[in-house]
Amino acid sequence: MTPSQHPFTLARRAERMNPSIIREILKVTERPGIVSLAGGLPSADTFPVQAVRDATERVLRESPREALQYAASEGFEPLREWVASHLVQQHGMRVDAAQVLITNGSQQGLDLAAKVLVDADSRVLVETPTYLGALQAFAPYEPTVEALASDHEGPLPEALAAAAPGARFAYLLPNFQNPTGHVYTEARREALVAAARAAGLPLVEDNPYGDLWYDTPPPPPLAALWPQGVLYLGSFSKVLAPGLRLGYIVAPPALYPKLLQAKQAADLHTAIFNQRVVYEVLRHGLLETHVPTIRARYKAQRDAMEVALERHLAGLAQWQRPVGGMFFWLELPPGLDAMALLPQAVEAGMAFVPGEPFFASAPMRNTLRLSFVTVAADRIETGVAALAGVLRRAEAAL
Ligand SMILES: Cc1ncc(COP(=O)(O)O)c(C=O)c1O
Repeated sequence: MTPSQHPFTLARRAERMNPSIIREILKVTERPGIVSLAGGLPSADTFPVQAVRDATERVLRESPREALQYAASEGFEPLREWVASHLVQQHGMRVDAAQVLITNGSQQGLDLAAKVLVDADSRVLVETPTYLGALQAFAPYEPTVEALASDHEGPLPEALAAAAPGARFAYLLPNFQNPTGHVYTEARREALVAAARAAGLPLVEDNPYGDLWYDTPPPPPLAALWPQGVLYLGSFSKVLAPGLRLGYIVAPPALYPKLLQAKQAADLHTAIFNQRVVYEVLRHGLLETHVPTIRARYKAQRDAMEVALERHLAGLAQWQRPVGGMFFWLELPPGLDAMALLPQAVEAGMAFVPGEPFFASAPMRNTLRLSFVTVAADRIETGVAALAGVLRRAEAAL
């Protein structure tokens, strides 16, 4: 229903809310027989089912009353401590558990960051393109979203420096970005932090894919370079399971109390049962053995998609091999519109996500995103071959 058809007067923020185009696409692609390279879902075969089952049993046996009671808004203390020490040891950050706020996935972190930092018409800076779910999370706070000129290493530091005065924050994805798969070099990280620090511009750093590297680990997070100015978002969705809805914010002490108050107002706290289960899983060191198995699996699937792309799409599209994360980002010949081609692709038996909704402004319509993690290697080839047929026909018709 469009706003004008709605029987009630909606808040301005509600008018700004949009259905997720990706979710709409996923509905179509759940039809059996479609090879969907559209989803951003982790492979369900990676979920540590037995470890979660054992941990659930232990939590219910050892602390059933606490696990089912209301709990602290900050999060379960041992889990906050685990997060802090993990970030210190694995990512070279300086973090105290008192800075950790457990959230309902990093998606809630995006909402809370905007709730605390954005007024109507505030300027918010994002990459080109950027994570669609962040644009959705920010929209109800009515910001003016400005897309920063970006290349394969992330936003250009000079673009950030020029746009920073008066902006409320810049939202950055340094590791294996969704949708492009790009990773920032160490030099680019330093230059961006220097520009932000000089302007007093807070950075919101979103890092759900940082542990999914396939060749070498990425450089340290922006938060390691500037702990006082970076609000860091982490997630258990890609290394354990997204259905647990567990993530965290590491906030500079100056911002933490307001984020906590915003979290309290939103939902009191994140499900303590899930937090205790996940802590039980983590405290026995599961991630050290589990994450390498995810990496090995996804790397093989990345390689399978690369082979399929080279076989079927050479000359029809351009891409860079992602060194981590879950996605290939394709640029089609100018004049092709990926959104318009999607129905034909579904007709041909495959689905992708058009690039358009990932752009805050001036979308490149000739772009699309393919996930290599959800579908097994042999079906990846089938999907890519079907896409090639669609693109070949569309190019011939240009
Ligand atoms: C870049 C990015 N940020 C945040 C999220 C949200 O993740 P979650 O709320 O499951 O932690 C996603 C999910 O795919 C993502 O790709």
